[in-house]
Amino acid sequence: DVPVDEEQYVLALDQGTTSARVIVFSSESVPVASHQVELNQHYPHPGWVEHDPMELIRACRECIDKVGDKLDAKRIPRKNVKALGITNQRETTVLWDKRNGQPVYNAIVWSDTRTEGTVVRLEQKPNADKVPKICGLHISTYFAAVKVRWILDNVPKAREVYEEGCLCFGTVDSWILYNFTNGARHITDATNASRSMFMNIQTLEYDAELVDFFDVPKLNLPDVVSSSEIYGYFSDDDAAFPSLPISGCLGDQSSALVGHLGFDKGDAKNTYGTGCFLLYNTGNDPVTSENGLLTTIAFQLKGQKPVYALEGSIAVAGSIIKWFRNNLGLIETSEQMSDLAGQVKDSAGVYFVTAFSGLFAPYWRRDARGTIVGLTAYTTRAHIARAAIEATCFQTRAILESMSRDSGVPFHKLLVDGGMSSSAVAMQIQSDILGMEVVRPGMREPTALGAAIVAGLATGVWNDLDHVRSKLQKRRTITSFTGSLTEKERDEQYRMWGRAVEKACGWVE
Ligand code: G3P
Repeated sequence: DVPVDEEQYVLALDQGTTSARVIVFSSESVPVASHQVELNQHYPHPGWVEHDPMELIRACRECIDKVGDKLDAKRIPRKNVKALGITNQRETTVLWDKRNGQPVYNAIVWSDTRTEGTVVRLEQKPNADKVPKICGLHISTYFAAVKVRWILDNVPKAREVYEEGCLCFGTVDSWILYNFTNGARHITDATNASRSMFMNIQTLEYDAELVDFFDVPKLNLPDVVSSSEIYGYFSDDDAAFPSLPISGCLGDQSSALVGHLGFDKGDAKNTYGTGCFLLYNTGNDPVTSENGLLTTIAFQLKGQKPVYALEGSIAVAGSIIKWFRNNLGLIETSEQMSDLAGQVKDSAGVYFVTAFSGLFAPYWRRDARGTIVGLTAYTTRAHIARAAIEATCFQTRAILESMSRDSGVPFHKLLVDGGMSSSAVAMQIQSDILGMEVVRPGMREPTALGAAIVAGLATGVWNDLDHVRSKLQKRRTITSFTGSLTEKERDEQYRMWGRAVEKACGWVE
């Protein structure tokens, strides 16, 4: 091993939906220090989810300060930290006044569904069918441009600043980069920009037709930059790491793909976080889905062509576990969900479509709502817990089938990460439902690692992707799950899931 004071480290900031976290990685991807701060979730009305943008920045700074202290305690010199990479919850939208850097409204979180009416109106516009072809995304409550439209239509203060030409738009990456550079940079990386609905997915430039479609000509959009270059230096007066280069940025799902070393065409991963997101690397060519998937940017290194991905997004995954705990009180800790589901060998005919925010990929039904079917006097909370976990796993199967159809490639193996992947019960269920090997790497933080990789590539910690691979693979271990159902059993369960989905759709009139 390299002596501690000669080793180089990279700091990765992961600003997710429920928390901010910083992990410090060595150049062989060993996490040596970390700190996490939970984020308050604001639910002012049913379906609304907001974050306080200032709290978000405070949480990020606190994590950075605290890992500084933890490095000192381990006698790891702070000067050996060579880069800061940022990864973030995507689509969550912040608008601020460029004259004072103050937000004009709370951040509207990606899973918020208040914009349903806005979506209906937008879908009726003459050019609506052109939008997905230009940006790779469906018109949905999920994406940033729709949230911007809602704020401009409903928040007079935002409208005023917009009319004065001073309203800045950003997803969370942009907001952090703006704050960390003291307002010097208003930028977004290509992966995050690909979730805005303002960017042309082929050219990586803002598209006049899209800006026109959402009617936001006076909005200040962040400049699109690569995922790996020096954007600026950490310049807070009392910064724990003064002058640290901020040199990497990826939306969290792209970051997890990079953290799995999914650099090549054909690589795929599924991350079970608050939601669940399956990304399939399609190389330098964008693939347009005919089967309900999104076209998105996987990553773009400086001066290189972008790498694209097909994405299947599931709105509810880990959040169902929180719902069992906080709303139903059926469990006390998240870990108990897996134990509960493991108490029974199947869901006894119960199917739970967790469509709390409508159903995302590959169905895209905003008229769906959470639905439990198949209840009998025999049903226990263990069956319902199992059915809730199965929901994410069935939706993953639907997404993988769409991906095989779009790409012409059958899948044999799924790489996984994220909170729910820690549960052996959940991953066994996933493997049973897919009839496919599910592989969980020992490195459990690929999202943060991805941000570290792009940041370290820009400052010479690693020379190129091959160098990253050779250094990181040394440490790689895996746990593998193999399906135990017959094809007939699997297909029958999946058919029943399809029937449950039909019941959930059309609930909202
Ligand atoms: O698109 C939303 C996604 O970026 C949020 O990720 O990890 O909070 O489920 P996560």
